[in-house]
Amino acid sequence: MKNILLLGSGGRECALAWKISQSPLCGTFFIAPGNAGTSEYGINLPIGVNDFAALKRACLEYKIDILFPGPEDPLVAGIYDYFKNDATLKHIIIVGPSKEGAQLEGSKAFSKKFMARHNIPTAAYQEFTAESFERGVAYIKRSEPPYVIKADGLAAGKGVVIAQNSIDAVKAFRAMVMNQQFGDASKTVVIEQFLDGIELSVFAFTDGEHYILLPEAKDYKRIGEGDTGLNTGGMGAISPVPIADDEFMKKVNERIVVPTINGLKAEKIIYQGFIFFGLIKVKGEPYVIEYNCRLGDPETEVVLPRLENDLVELIIKMEECKLNEVKAEFSNKTAATVMLVSEGYPGDYEKGRVMTGFEHVKGSYLFHAGTRESPKSKVKNLNSDEAEIVTNGGRVLAITSLGDDLKQALLKSYENAEMIKYEGKYCRKDIGWEFL
Ligand code: AMP
Ligand code: GLY
Repeated sequence: MKNILLLGSGGRECALAWKISQSPLCGTFFIAPGNAGTSEYGINLPIGVNDFAALKRACLEYKIDILFPGPEDPLVAGIYDYFKNDATLKHIIIVGPSKEGAQLEGSKAFSKKFMARHNIPTAAYQEFTAESFERGVAYIKRSEPPYVIKADGLAAGKGVVIAQNSIDAVKAFRAMVMNQQFGDASKTVVIEQFLDGIELSVFAFTDGEHYILLPEAKDYKRIGEGDTGLNTGGMGAISPVPIADDEFMKKVNERIVVPTINGLKAEKIIYQGFIFFGLIKVKGEPYVIEYNCRLGDPETEVVLPRLENDLVELIIKMEECKLNEVKAEFSNKTAATVMLVSEGYPGDYEKGRVMTGFEHVKGSYLFHAGTRESPKSKVKNLNSDEAEIVTNGGRVLAITSLGDDLKQALLKSYENAEMIKYEGKYCRKDIGWEFL
């Protein structure tokens, strides 16, 4: 039995908590900080994901065997190295790469150079800083629109601008490198070729030597129906993705996944954990848009319900470098998740709205994202127990269903989306629309 500490508080972590807690190998299970959903599967600890000192204390106190960072922040900040360099913590299995490996997500310039070294297909690009600002402007002027301008570092999902004309492109570029719009994260900027195609997410789980591929997924990033409006963390997801046929996935494996894992190994970059390949299919060919050093959200909410293996067993195999002994097994059902969000998101929104209707949901998984349990006293005028759960974020609840086909899965999720009530509830009604 392994005592496990999972870090994070989103829908991804709720789905992970659901999956991990089913394992017979799971001992005492904690989530830091978690949400109202994760507390059904384990014990929430009020510790932030970047508070390494407090996480250390918790790991020692609760005799943690496995630490699983859900989001990228602690990985990019070097939680792996922090644990491995501490004699009292180094025995703990970390599901995620070293600080250097996390640079695949933490630095666009690093990942672009890595792909160039290993001939991994991606958009043509150049990188610039304040010193090379004029050259950057000249590069924009001699390129064709649309222009893709990316802050090098983590920018909470806001670091990519797609500009339709060179004036807007230069403006975005200037804001990033000259006015440090994202602080240090935009000291370096990548300007790259625009790729026109269909995006999808592919996940590998690697022990540094071998890997298994998880089912692919597609997320719906824009707030508005028909993929319009502002980018969000993700408004829904489906898995499998109809455009990911065998021929395409063979190319993904041969040209992208294998060279990435071999490249990490050849460069002696320590990497045991998930690699998220943000891909785009252009005229049948796969290109990498981005790497992430973790699972996706909301992709996890459709991938894990299809994974039939014991996740804790996979983690132990990862640590032993024996993932070659494992056969990944997936349900051939289709999974669809619909994200309920707070009115106003991804801009400003209210928190603390009382949520009801959970008991009417039938046949779907509810993966909580921005929710928390509110002390009863605050809601004592409401006469039912379920009034204890209140909204606590922009993305509130992922409703996942499995079906024999996409239509069935979506119908079930939308039916149950109706059951959940809170003021200012919004969801996109067109998840999976282009494949129906
Ligand atoms: P990233 O943070 O790199 O994933 O970029 C965020 C989003 O911007 C992606 O999901 C794409 O929709 C879009 N994007 C990024 N790079 C490109 C590109 N080279 N061509 C077209 N769209 C892109
Ligand atoms: N759904 C995209 C991400 O997790 O980055």
